[in-house]
Amino acid sequence: MSRRTALVTGASRGIGLGIAQRLAAAGYALTLSARKEEPLLHAASELADETGTEVAPVVGNLATEDDVRQLAAAHEERFGALDLLVLNGGVGSAGPVAETKMKTYDLVLNVNLRAQFLLIQQCLPMLRKAAAAHPSHGGKIVALASITGVAGEPGLAAYGASKAGLISLCETVTLEESVHGVTATAISPGYVDTDMTEWKRDELGQESMLSTADVAELVLAITRLSARAVVPNMVLTRAGEQIWRA
Ligand SMILES: NC(=O)c1ccc[n+]([C@@H]2O[C@H](COP(=O)([O-])OP(=O)(O)OC[C@H]3O[C@@H](n4cnc5c(N)ncnc54)[C@H](OP(=O)(O)O)[C@@H]3O)[C@@H](O)[C@H]2O)c1
Repeated sequence: MSRRTALVTGASRGIGLGIAQRLAAAGYALTLSARKEEPLLHAASELADETGTEVAPVVGNLATEDDVRQLAAAHEERFGALDLLVLNGGVGSAGPVAETKMKTYDLVLNVNLRAQFLLIQQCLPMLRKAAAAHPSHGGKIVALASITGVAGEPGLAAYGASKAGLISLCETVTLEESVHGVTATAISPGYVDTDMTEWKRDELGQESMLSTADVAELVLAITRLSARAVVPNMVLTRAGEQIWRA
C-alpha cells in the first residue's frame, strides 16, 4: 500500500503542531503550512529528523486567496493525492457584539471559514483520488472548530459564528462527498493551552485547560475509522462543572 499523506494548516505551533507530530509518528507524509517562515521551517525539519517522514513546509496566509490555492497546488505537485486534510489554522478574537469592529469580524470569518471553504474545494479532487485508491479508508477532513460554535459564549461572537459555520460546512461536505468516499469531522474543544489562549491562562489555571495531545488523540482516532463511519462533530470539554462553556 502506498504511504498516506496529510495537509495540516497552522502547523508551526499549538494544536496544529501537536497533530502533525502524531501524524508523522504514524507514518504520514506531510504538507505543513503557516504564515511565519522561520517557525514553520523549524517545526518541519525537526519532525522530519525525528520521524524520518517526508515533510513539506509551505508558507502562506489563509486570509489570502492565492496563498490558499497555492497551498493545495503545492501538496498536489509533491504528493498527488491527499488522505487527510486538517483545517486547523485559525485566528482568535474576543469582544462583545456591540463593540466588535467589522474589520475584525471580516478577518475572523475570512481566516476561520472562507479559507476553509476554499481549501476544501481545492483539495476535494485529491481527497477523492485517495479515497478511490483506499476505498475501505476513504479521504478524510478534520476541522478545528470550537465549543463556542456549539453553544454561544459571551464575548466570543465573531469567533463562535465562524466556528458554527465550520461545523455546518463539515456536515454538508459529508452529505455531498460520501458518495466519493470523502467525509468530514469537526472537533470542538473548550480552552486548549496554546499561545492563542495565553490571555486566559491566569484566570482559568493552566492545569485546567485541555492539552494539544488531547486534541491530537482525537484526530488519530478519526484517521483509524473506516470509510463507513463518520463522527460529524466531537465536543471536547474541560473537566469541571460547566460542560458547554469554553
Ligand atoms: N486554543 C484553544 O483554546 C482552541 C479551542 C478551540 C479551537 N481552537 C482552534 O484550533 C486551531 C488552532 O489553535 P491554536 O490554539 O493551536 O492556535 P495558535 O497557537 O495561535 O496557532 C495558530 C497556528 O495557525 C497559524 N495561523 C494563524 N493565522 C494564520 C493565517 N492567517 N494564515 C495561516 N496560518 C495562520 C499560526 O502560524 P502563523 O502565526 O505563523 O501564521 C499557527 O501555526 C484554531 O483554528 C483555533 O480556533 C483552539
